[in-house]
Amino acid sequence: MNCLVIHGPNLNMLGKRNPEIYGSFSLDDLYEAIADHFPEVDFTFFQSNHEGELIEIIQHATDGSYDALLINPGAYTHTSIAIRDALEILSIPKAEVHLSDITQREPFRKVDVISDVVDQRFMGKKIDSYIEAVAFLLNKVVVY
Ligand code: DQA
Repeated sequence: MNCLVIHGPNLNMLGKRNPEIYGSFSLDDLYEAIADHFPEVDFTFFQSNHEGELIEIIQHATDGSYDALLINPGAYTHTSIAIRDALEILSIPKAEVHLSDITQREPFRKVDVISDVVDQRFMGKKIDSYIEAVAFLLNKVVVY
């Protein structure tokens, strides 16, 4: 399985950013943990703080290069109809992931404009949210 992993704004600051909420590991540590856990998966990792760049990488994924998409859109989860619309166009299996449980935080984080265009959400378990999401995507890609 070729899996595109996309991270949105401020997730490049993992390790330095609210470690009590997001954990003390860096984004590179997170990439390594996922890749080590699934040696059979070919991962492409992408992070951007820019909405347009995130939309463009999602659009490029419609060319058939990837079997599945995992995305943590960061704060764009709560605001970006444009990222939502780009995801809607992409027909491969898609998982939305959050390190924290956005349903148990500030009211503005409970708004999720992405959830209706992904297959499933995984959240609240830090790195384990990602492990669960990749396992879900692997199962979907193998079955279909
Ligand atoms: C996050 C949750 C978002 O509300 C926040 O803006 C982030 C990270 C998470 O992984 O828990 O940047 O997506």
